[in-house]
Amino acid sequence: MKIGFIGDIVGKPGRDMIKTHLKKLREEFGIDFVMANTENASHGFGINMKNAVELFNNGIDVMSGGNHTWDRGEIVECMKTMLILRPYNLPDLVPGRGAVVCDIDGCKLGIINLMGHFTMPMCDNPFLKAKEAVNFVKEEGAEAVFIDFHAESTSEKTALFAMLKGEISGIVGTHTHVGTDDLTIDEGTLFLCDIGLTGCRDGVIGVDKEAAIKRFLTGLNYPFDIPKECKKIFQMVIFELQGRVCVDAFKIKIYDEYEREITKAHNG
Ligand SMILES: [Fe+2]
Ligand SMILES: [Fe+2]
Repeated sequence: MKIGFIGDIVGKPGRDMIKTHLKKLREEFGIDFVMANTENASHGFGINMKNAVELFNNGIDVMSGGNHTWDRGEIVECMKTMLILRPYNLPDLVPGRGAVVCDIDGCKLGIINLMGHFTMPMCDNPFLKAKEAVNFVKEEGAEAVFIDFHAESTSEKTALFAMLKGEISGIVGTHTHVGTDDLTIDEGTLFLCDIGLTGCRDGVIGVDKEAAIKRFLTGLNYPFDIPKECKKIFQMVIFELQGRVCVDAFKIKIYDEYEREITKAHNG
């Protein structure tokens, strides 16, 4: 079973990159199922129903989120009918769900969305909740388990990998919007601290650089905007599972329309 995972899709430039590339890549690499973090898909803040429908139609099968999940109220309605997860480690009374088991041609994949502690909104301990969520999806029949760990700190993400490797199929981080170069498979578990954004690559983490620079110069909250024109990047990890075990993985980056870079996972 071949799976794709895409990180934070930021605004229209990110959605345009999905539209341009994802279906072609699914065909080229024989990808069976695609997961993506869409917490910034609608102009950088949350995801609305129109953009969710658009992204599902353009090749995404399940969506995860994070600290921006609640930026648009209609997400609550979307979660009732669409496969959109929110972080698992939020109180039970919060709408939506943080874990799901998907049947992909007879293979059962458990997908979990977790949020870290460092600089993030209030949430339960992601390490304790990770164990609970893994048990939950396994009880629901999942053989393979994947976690989108939406967190700021590389140490938090690496520690979760250290705790769960050999038990689950993969952990890939999201939220920082900046990709890291530590793609690894160890004990049959895939790991990458952060996949990096899909969207503008010449701003500041996907948003227009002017407001970001003004914020750092002054400490004032200049509103962020998504540039209409920018240099773009598409980033996806593609990995192969045999049962629980990840046997192969690589990351593909596409700059604008054509230029590609492929990085293989280090094994062990
Ligand atoms: Fe994000
Ligand atoms: Fe985030």
